[in-house]
Amino acid sequence: MRIKNRHYRTIWDDGKINPSVFAIDQRHLPLSFKIIRLRNTEDIHDAIKSMAVRGAPLLGVAAAYGIYFAHREALRKAYTGKEFDMYVEEKHDFLLSARPTSVNPEWAIKTVLQATAKARTAADKTLRALEAARKIADDDVRNCMRIGRYGSKIIKEIRRYSGQNTVNVLTHCNAGWLACIDYGTALSPVYISAERGIPVHVWVEETRPRNQGGKLTAYELEQMGIPHTVITDNAGGQVIQTGNADVVFVGADRITKSGDVCNKVGTYKTALAAYDNNIPFYVCAPLSSFDTGINDGIEEIEIEERNSDEVRIADDGKQRVLMCNPGSRVFNPGFDITPSRLITGIITEKGIIKADEYHIKGLFTGRK
Ligand code: MRU
Repeated sequence: MRIKNRHYRTIWDDGKINPSVFAIDQRHLPLSFKIIRLRNTEDIHDAIKSMAVRGAPLLGVAAAYGIYFAHREALRKAYTGKEFDMYVEEKHDFLLSARPTSVNPEWAIKTVLQATAKARTAADKTLRALEAARKIADDDVRNCMRIGRYGSKIIKEIRRYSGQNTVNVLTHCNAGWLACIDYGTALSPVYISAERGIPVHVWVEETRPRNQGGKLTAYELEQMGIPHTVITDNAGGQVIQTGNADVVFVGADRITKSGDVCNKVGTYKTALAAYDNNIPFYVCAPLSSFDTGINDGIEEIEIEERNSDEVRIADDGKQRVLMCNPGSRVFNPGFDITPSRLITGIITEKGIIKADEYHIKGLFTGRK
């Protein structure tokens, strides 16, 4: 995707034999564009924890590079055999401790470890870990493009039956290319539609308290020349109720085998408003965001509880402004669960499916 007309991925390595990893530092957007260099597991852990990198698929790729660094560190310490594997395992847990809710880091680390399992030497394991991390990044780009192509068909269909020139999409948080490697999940249908000449306007819920919508989604839509309007989270229901949104697209951090979707806090309220007004509500997510080992999202997904200062204080790096009564207790869950019954469909790289156990199982078994 483009920033000031130059193409970027959100994370990349410099292609050297012992590469450094680089990422767009999302803590400073939209006001300044900075790139951070990540050289070891510690750097990757800190980038995830501080949300310099964020968004489920990007967290997955960052974790994949993190576990590659773990291999490289063990190799440099001249560890072999059990000692090597124990070091990697310790870093595996360390990387996953940075943020608990998204399943993508777990999936990505497992994928890297599967790729290294048959290697005989420590050096070979390390090389395979790097190749696997790079492949996960490349696959994510392809999968997001596929999600965009399927989602764009929905946009085209809405335009056809409504007779409107412009289709109005509403989205929550940032599930665009900044949350992935390129294209994004929930915004990919918008970008692919724009490439196909279908006019789209996006309602962007600001997504308190960290404002990933108002800051990141609005930023990337502006860079890509897509018409959009930022609204408060509270205004989402009003926009939907007054017929100003034709469809909702959101991303996901973890989807259970029954189709419950965990995504940025506030997604559930948006889904309720869409359901009450008969507006289609789609979740856009790659297969790497499914956790088929669990069933009930509310019971089984650990919701990250974040620092209360995110709610209490607005901070632009220069000024800190108090946003609520300083003595009051604050509760700040990072995510919520949208039950499958509120979801029209899940758009994946393998097609659009119903949010239920039968269709989700079919995704993984190849049954249509
Ligand atoms: O806390 P964040 O910014 O990492 O949360 C991001 C979201 O909730 C996204 O909607 C989700 O990760 C899907 S990203 C394609």
